[in-house]
Amino acid sequence: MTSWKEIDDCVKRWIAEAGERIRKSFSHSLSIQTKSNPNDLVTNMDKETEQFLIQNIRSHFPDHLILGEEGHGDRVNSMDGIVWIIDPIDGTMNFIHQQRNFAISIGIYENGVGRLGYVYDVTHDELYFAEKGKGAYMNDVQLPVLTEVPLEQSILAINATWLVKNTYFDPGKLAALALSVRGTRSSGSAALELAYVASGRFDSYITMRLSPWDFAAGKILVEEVGGIVTNLHGEPLDMLATNSVFASVPRLHSHISDEFLREK
Ligand code: IPD
Ligand code: CA
Ligand code: CA
Repeated sequence: MTSWKEIDDCVKRWIAEAGERIRKSFSHSLSIQTKSNPNDLVTNMDKETEQFLIQNIRSHFPDHLILGEEGHGDRVNSMDGIVWIIDPIDGTMNFIHQQRNFAISIGIYENGVGRLGYVYDVTHDELYFAEKGKGAYMNDVQLPVLTEVPLEQSILAINATWLVKNTYFDPGKLAALALSVRGTRSSGSAALELAYVASGRFDSYITMRLSPWDFAAGKILVEEVGGIVTNLHGEPLDMLATNSVFASVPRLHSHISDEFLREK
């Protein structure tokens, strides 16, 4: 039986190598394609990074399953056993337009329980990682357990789009929420936004639609420092479907849910 320590050593090695390849790609021209719509972008580096990670996982851990955004992994229908959930580049639009604010995201689950989570900010060389029950870290620095913050002093991560267009809530309520907090931010990488909640840079994060590879690693990070990650109805996330996502420190999570997230 492989130990979590062995898996962790491998992941950190592979992430460092993948990050180096991505940084080197900055000086080459990218091949950019669109997926579901003209703003849903994918590059050769998204595909190559996913293939690199999956080849390594398969050769070291052949009995593990892999769910990857770009489709090079397995068809995963259940969370039984060990399942890796991978986003090779989360924040592809930022990768293309800014060459920063994107991350490699890897969450490793055992029978549906998050065991290891990694969000690697490639440009800043910052690795956020957590092991269930053993704490969360940013590089070598342990992240403290989150402290509560009143709504009016909190920073909320939310994409402006959701204030005008969403199918869940009265947009007026979300606008009222945005006006009630100290400030709002939008980074364009869900994995980094969750890592920022885990490291106290954001106090909460709300988004209407994410796929499992966007939140699999970040959820483990946030929960390891005492935060709550649910959908916008306060329910557990489905690891094999798209979900709305609401991550926050516990009391703020209740406050925002009760006051602003009532359904239409
Ligand atoms: C996207 C980013 C973005 C979120 C989108 C995701 P991608 O991931 O996480 O922040 O708002 O919903 O699709 O496509 O860059 O991997
Ligand atoms: Ca993503
Ligand atoms: Ca991606």
